[in-house]
Order: sequence, then structure tokens, then C-alpha cells
Amino acid sequence: MEEAKKAAGEQAADLVRTGMRVGLGTGSTTAFALRAIGRRIRESSLHVMGVPTSFASERLARECGIPLTTLEEVEALDLALDGADEVSPELNLIKGRGGAHTREKVVAAQAKRFVVLTDPSKDVKRLGEKRVVPVEVLPMATGPVLRTLDDVCTEATLRMGKEKDGPVVTDQGFWIIDARFEGGIDNPHAIDRMLRDLPGVLDHGLFLDMATDIFVGHPDGSVEHRQ
Ligand code: A5P
Repeated sequence: MEEAKKAAGEQAADLVRTGMRVGLGTGSTTAFALRAIGRRIRESSLHVMGVPTSFASERLARECGIPLTTLEEVEALDLALDGADEVSPELNLIKGRGGAHTREKVVAAQAKRFVVLTDPSKDVKRLGEKRVVPVEVLPMATGPVLRTLDDVCTEATLRMGKEKDGPVVTDQGFWIIDARFEGGIDNPHAIDRMLRDLPGVLDHGLFLDMATDIFVGHPDGSVEHRQ
């Protein structure tokens, strides 16, 4: 899938024009877009400012030479580019495999255009079919949130580090609970509201009615544009 991700990332980077303020997503697909933007800054006269969505995208943007700003300094973004874990036919998403979904949602919500870069493996008929919904939680609220989620999803588990001992800690110092919905989610808007209302939940990985465009890269290098 590397060729597919590269195709989607590089084509999306072509949307960036001089003077734009751009949200810089997190993940392996968006990384291709960030590198392409960096090349255009070095090789042509592209001038842009980026707002990163994680420590990881901030570090990559600096490495690529993309000047950075914050949502304190700019009022609105012209464009946000980001990846996804699942995409439904309605262009709704699950994000947060890398735990960056909270900042990603804040940045995407400020963008006039939110362009999502994917490959065909991310397509689902119903959200939750293949991937878990990450829920970012205040550590002391983990118990109550796990117990509530146990009643609404198939399985809720605290995400543990692979190398690091103990729970995965987000850029905000929060933890992540992964909620699995066997067979997919019947009513994503109801789950979205329920999760947002839970005390101790910072945000979750359902991105509903936010994406304006999906760029689906294919292994042959072609890119399908959905709107
Ligand atoms: C980061 O937490 C995620 O939301 C990513 O944007 C998402 O998982 C897509 O990542 P890939 O492009 O690496 O699949």
C-alpha cells in the first residue's frame, strides 16, 4: 500500500497554494503529503504556514522545512490534510490509530476544506467494521468510562504500550480506550453524542460530517477523488 499512500499524499499536496494556512495531519499517508509540501518549499517559491496535529507531525514538518504556526495566531485554515483508519460511503471517518485524533479534530474543524488521504483498505460500508473507535480519557476516569462502554460496545480495552510498559499516553497526557463494535456501528451520531457527554472523555475518533474530500490512492499510482 506504500505506492497508494504516496499517490494520495502527493496529489493532495498539490492543493496547497502560496499564502495558505494548512492543517498538517498525522500518520504514514499524510507524511507523504508533508514531504511533498517540503519539497515544493525548497524547490519553488511556495510560502505556507502549517498547524501540526501532534508532536509527530510537528517534528516531521520541521524536518521538511514547513514553517509552523498555531490556532492562537491564525483564525482559520484554508485546508487540512489528514489520514483515516476507516471511511464510510457518507465520508464519515474513524481516526486515531496513532492516538492523535483529538488534536486532529480541533485542526480539521478550523479548516474550510478537510481533505482525507486514504487507500482502498480503509473503505467500509459501516464505521467500526474493521477498526476500533479510540476514546481519549482522563486517567482517573478510566474505570467509569470502561464500565459505560462495556454496555454499548462489544469490547472496550485500555490501549497498552508496545515497548513502553503501561498505558499509551497521548500528547495531552491522557490515556486511550479502544472500543470495538462487532459488525459496525448502527448509529454513529448517537455514539458520537454519547461519548462526548461522558465525564472524563476528552474526545474520540469518530469524525462525522467533517470531511469535504477523500483522495483514495491506488497501488497503480492513480488517485480517486470523492466529494
Ligand atoms: C493518527 O492518530 C490517525 O488518526 C491517523 O491519521 C490515521 O490512523 C491514519 O494513519 P495512516 O495514514 O498511517 O494509516
